[in-house]
Amino acid sequence: ETEMFTFDPGFTSTASCESKITFIDGDAGVLLYRGYPIDQLAEHGDFLETCYLLLYGELPSAAEKANFDYRITRHTMVHEQMARFFQGFRRDAHPMAVMVASVGALSAFYHDSTNIADPVQRMVASTRMIAKIPTLAAMAYKYSIGQPFVYPKNDLDYTSNFLRMCFAVPCEEYKVNPVLSRALDRIFILHADHEQNASTSTVRLSGSSGANPFACIAAGIASLWGPAHGGANEAVLKMLAEIGTPERIPQFIARAKDKNDPFRLMGFGHRVYKNYDPRAKIMQRTTREVLNELGVKDDLLDVALELERIALSDEYFIEKKLYPNIDFYSGITLKAMNFPVAMFTVLFAVARTVGWIAQWKEMIEDSGSKIGRPRQLYTGEKRRDYVPMSKR
Ligand code: SDX
Repeated sequence: ETEMFTFDPGFTSTASCESKITFIDGDAGVLLYRGYPIDQLAEHGDFLETCYLLLYGELPSAAEKANFDYRITRHTMVHEQMARFFQGFRRDAHPMAVMVASVGALSAFYHDSTNIADPVQRMVASTRMIAKIPTLAAMAYKYSIGQPFVYPKNDLDYTSNFLRMCFAVPCEEYKVNPVLSRALDRIFILHADHEQNASTSTVRLSGSSGANPFACIAAGIASLWGPAHGGANEAVLKMLAEIGTPERIPQFIARAKDKNDPFRLMGFGHRVYKNYDPRAKIMQRTTREVLNELGVKDDLLDVALELERIALSDEYFIEKKLYPNIDFYSGITLKAMNFPVAMFTVLFAVARTVGWIAQWKEMIEDSGSKIGRPRQLYTGEKRRDYVPMSKR
């Protein structure tokens, strides 16, 4: 019976759905959102414009953009009971653990937007998540450092508001640095969607049963957390710190190439890109801009650049087509902005929320979509008779 199935561990060659949202040509290093090249969107647009594009398929007119911005920035508050929900966490809880739980908890707060058959309720649930997940992310950060939560300020743009919720303190005036806000906004654009990666597939699979949309996004966050996926940005920074100086790079390269050593170069390699990840290029430029703006010299950037140079001229990496991915430079940028390492994957989740939602919405609206239900190749015991305890 098992011969009926195609065996494809890790889904390396199985298309799980049809999609009109994101296109990747991994050999050429091309990434398009709804047909638009990622570098053009990152250069000319802002994150909420990208959100609109991913959700609705077209770039917004000025009026549509103003309306969308208004809708998102006016729904940033979370229920005050959520603040009490946070008090239950240990204060050293990893902020990704807090995100999985608090976004999951939204499913218990908004009963009026969970009828997924109703397009208006779908839209309301989507708006709520895009607007409120940054607020939860900032709360997770504030909680971890023992500072009071900062309420959102709705007249700020999406990213400036997020920076303020993270870094303002009641005892001081806080002014958003527009260069940093623009840089973070661009980082959000780069992370917004990436077709059927592990977390997005998780969201689609959970949503395919008709489950509560807030709970589905929480499932995506859980999947993103892993070091082979969104957790790589955190792992990269830990790795660069461990390497410490450019002289020590060769020994780490040797370890990465050693099959008997589990060590891998974090931020290197990709399931789909067998060429430079186009997002990594833009990210590298953004890193320089942010360090220049802040007048910061980070030795880890020198380690990263040298590591990239050595790896890209090494036979092993050339042959396996391993290039830096999006996570390779993002950590250095976020560190310079003062985000602690544990927040890096949270920022990825904030940005990817819209991608998850666009993909979830596309699946619900696709009349051909079915509940996801992979089969297996069974390799266990054949049928056998129960053995009474006294005979085992
Ligand atoms: C993200 O899918 C997405 O789109 C994800 C993402 C998104 O936007 O959603 O782009 C975000 O998750 C980026 C990836 C972040 N992860 C890392 O940087 C972790 C380090 N990278 C690797 O673990 C790995 O490259 C993966 C997980 C990214 C891809 O894994 P694959 O496609 O399953 O490939 P593989 O692990 O089977 O590697 C193929 C070969 C192996 O050697 P062989 O067994 O063929 O001899 O390449 C080697 C691997 O050992 N290899 C590496 C390596 N990555 C792969 N060797 C050393 N260092 C590495 N980083």
